Amino acid sequence: MKIAIPNCTSATEKRVALTPNEIKRLKGKYSGLEVFVMAGAGEAAHYSDAEYTESGAEVIDSKKASKLKADVTLRVTPVETVADYEENELVIGLMDPAGSQKTLNELADRGVNVVALERIPRTSRAQAMDALSSQANIGGYRAVLEATQHFDRYFPLMMTSAGSAKPAKVVVMGAGVAGLQAIATARRLGAQVEAFDIRPEVKEQIESLGAKFIEFDLGEEGSGEGGYAKELSEAARKKQQALLQAYLTTADVVITTAQIPGRPAPVLVTEEAVKGMRVGSVIVDMAAASGGNCPLTEADKVVVKHGVKLVGHTNYASMLAHDASSFYARNLANLLELMLEVKDGVTSLHYNLEDDIIAGSLVVYGGQVRL
Ligand code: NAI
Repeated sequence: MKIAIPNCTSATEKRVALTPNEIKRLKGKYSGLEVFVMAGAGEAAHYSDAEYTESGAEVIDSKKASKLKADVTLRVTPVETVADYEENELVIGLMDPAGSQKTLNELADRGVNVVALERIPRTSRAQAMDALSSQANIGGYRAVLEATQHFDRYFPLMMTSAGSAKPAKVVVMGAGVAGLQAIATARRLGAQVEAFDIRPEVKEQIESLGAKFIEFDLGEEGSGEGGYAKELSEAARKKQQALLQAYLTTADVVITTAQIPGRPAPVLVTEEAVKGMRVGSVIVDMAAASGGNCPLTEADKVVVKHGVKLVGHTNYASMLAHDASSFYARNLANLLELMLEVKDGVTSLHYNLEDDIIAGSLVVYGGQVRL
């Protein structure tokens, strides 16, 4: 059985899908597993070709890669060239199923099977395979560090012989995976942190991290299925925006992470609210890739509007590529273990559609797109 690791790196992507450690682990467990890594695939994340060779993988050039006929390809980014994949091959990665319909249709026509990690359910059993969460956790951490780079004041209370500085007031909007890590990171840096979410059940988690839970009475709650939120009504959205506008006049740094799966990001910070914020304050809009929680955010840019800096990076995980790749690779290897079967010493792929993790994430199978 052949597993291929292509080079997914670009100007905005430094991660690699499988690390030497995971290769060693998988090869030790499954007989006859051959892993082929494109030369340089891990370089940007500081996993060298030599480490891959040492792990038991074969490092190959593009000529050999084009003739490989892999059984499984593990990617970080969505498929770019459909013709690179074979009938019955399985491709696993962050496939952007909502935005890659055309590519998925073409892969289905070609008989390629596809697992989109975005569709792994958020259940306890699936946690070890939940790449979206492992990467969002890194994102939440990195987003706060990004804020410190653009904010020209201290985060902690600082008392010096030359005077003292008040702690920064950080407001985190949306306390899911990225938001909770952002709260924890800002607290570690000594900021005064306040956070809110439309799912009231996160109050305890916010408080356990030493932050204050902002309670707004919106007349409705946003708890949806599987730990995700459901969309607010138009009236509740307007109420939330108005309450926030007043609240943000005293914020120094705002980290927004609100999302409703499959929907454009909800607007929480209106242009009016930005106008009311202090000059020099910073908004890190983590939802920039799905439209932004602030309409003034520009994806992958840092802009200043009304004296407020808006940071719209869309790939914080790539900025911590070494650790992000390590967690991502572990998620992928765990998922693969759910699909690999050994019979009479031979390893093969098994698609158990009764399993909610496989059924949920297998977005193309047997020539059909399953969205
Ligand atoms: P999540 O689903 O775990 O958390 C989102 C949170 O937003 C939930 O707790 C939800 O209840 C809350 N929410 C939804 N609507 C809200 C509203 N109107 N007001 C307040 N809270 C609301 O998602 P996760 O994994 O934490 O990701 C959050 C966002 O960050 C997503 O848009 C994701 O794509 C983005 N992200 C961006 C990264 C980057 O590099 N820019 C890296 C990782 C995540």
